[in-house]
Amino acid sequence: MIEDLWYKNAVIYNLSLATFMDSDGDGVGDFKGLQRRLDYLHGLGITCLWLGPFQTSPMKDDGYDVADYYNVDPRYGTLGDFVEFTHACKQHGIRVIIDLVVNHTSDQHPWFQAARKDPDSPYRDWYVWADRKPANADEGMVFPGVQKTTWTHDREAKAWYFHRFYKFQPDLNTSNPAVQAELLKIMGFWIQLGVSGFRMDAVPFIIATKGPDVTTPTEQFGMLRSFREFVQWRRGDALLLAEANILPEDDLEYFGHDGDRCHMMFNFQVNQHLFYALASADGGPLIDALLATKPRPHSGQWGSFLRNHDELDLGRLTEPQRQAVFDAFGPDKSMQLYDRGIRRRLAPMLNADRRRLELAYSLMFTLPGTPVIRYGDEIGMGDDLSLPERNCARTPMQWSDEPQAGFTKSDTPILPVISGGVFGYERVNAAAQRRDPESMLNWTERIIRMRKECPEIGWGDFRVLKTTCPEVLALRYDWRNNGVVVVHNLSDGPREITLDVDGEGETSRLVNLLSNDHSEPDSKGRHPMVLEAYGYRWFRVGGLDYLMKRSEAL
Ligand code: NOJ
Repeated sequence: MIEDLWYKNAVIYNLSLATFMDSDGDGVGDFKGLQRRLDYLHGLGITCLWLGPFQTSPMKDDGYDVADYYNVDPRYGTLGDFVEFTHACKQHGIRVIIDLVVNHTSDQHPWFQAARKDPDSPYRDWYVWADRKPANADEGMVFPGVQKTTWTHDREAKAWYFHRFYKFQPDLNTSNPAVQAELLKIMGFWIQLGVSGFRMDAVPFIIATKGPDVTTPTEQFGMLRSFREFVQWRRGDALLLAEANILPEDDLEYFGHDGDRCHMMFNFQVNQHLFYALASADGGPLIDALLATKPRPHSGQWGSFLRNHDELDLGRLTEPQRQAVFDAFGPDKSMQLYDRGIRRRLAPMLNADRRRLELAYSLMFTLPGTPVIRYGDEIGMGDDLSLPERNCARTPMQWSDEPQAGFTKSDTPILPVISGGVFGYERVNAAAQRRDPESMLNWTERIIRMRKECPEIGWGDFRVLKTTCPEVLALRYDWRNNGVVVVHNLSDGPREITLDVDGEGETSRLVNLLSNDHSEPDSKGRHPMVLEAYGYRWFRVGGLDYLMKRSEAL
């Protein structure tokens, strides 16, 4: 069995350079600042950093509008700083994956500038053009309500160009072999500088056919295989983690039936149904989503997440389900975005209720996949709804109760620090939480430690256990003769259940991994138990035997 798939049991932490830590007092986070915070991240237990885009950019979409793929934006430092940083990460045993944003460039990119100026430029065909406004120009916007169209007229080019996202993000013509070769070159460049892989932005759009006559885009899956082949030739353990909000029936196309396309994908299906479960206390649809996304090749892995840098997209839920999540977590219009999602951070959505935060995180850490944490969520940061669109959840990291939350010495941080009230940096900050053994930060550290001690979750096969209570979700993982059972009570009241761990005549005790409250089987080999409101349990089946069995298996 291949054991080197490091991503199967990684703990990934996502951050944006701009708002993490500013070392030089210009109000913008930078690589030197981030480097100084590696001890913090290492202490928290994370094993892989996912950096949002940091290449040269006009920053009209938080860096997802790249103007030079081979450079670091000067606000964040230099290429030299980047290499120092990846080296320091290596010293801390932390891998780095970076955003690869190649569905589109910034309209300021020299390729687009050359393409628009001269129809004979070799770069003209790097983008997607039309002589006349295509009939479907008003369809397919990714940011409805903010983005008006997917085709915009360019005076200089005297033509219309295609942009799946904002109009300052012209789509690359990814079917063009010259563009494909350049994409590989970009990956090769960053691999050479020390990264362990890529979070590939907007994958379904990268591989889609594009053009004025394309009414139903088709996906060119062969491209994913060529990306995979390339990165693995350059670095055997390189990872492709796809952002692809797709339907379960297409999962295997993205992983590759033989595991020869993307190594990992974010599980949007489970993410949305998880929020529905938290909103409604009904675990049924979440179980359906878990089972629907179960099939994957051996090397394939899900990324499990709660919130990320975008809105919580609820587009895959039914209308009543979506409404239930809106009602519970984002009732006000100002909290919603793009007619389909909620733009708030996790802690305000859950009213900073520690029981619910722990439940949500405990679920995330024990669902099938690799956990991906959003910076600041480990201390329960809030949001600033006065900021436009998704910026509300991208405010500076709250390090301490010093001015500007210790993020910068400048009085004008790139985005305002959250101050005052329940979520202000005066009350919510890493320094204070570090000193408090019961803080969210220290709880997160402990749960990460336990997740690492349960490799069954990353590697194993899961089964949904019957609990006779739709509000209690129980999963069992098995790997190499070891079993882990996790139980979560979604409801706001205590629930009594009888758990059949279903281990073929197994009458083992369940050893509680988070407290001394173990469970002995009754005469029928079952485990009656009471879970408090929003309670959760992590058990190892068979208890101490496990260490024995594990060493035998190794
Ligand atoms: C997906 C990213 O997650 C989002 O933040 C960005 O705006 C779009 N892709 C466009 O690049």
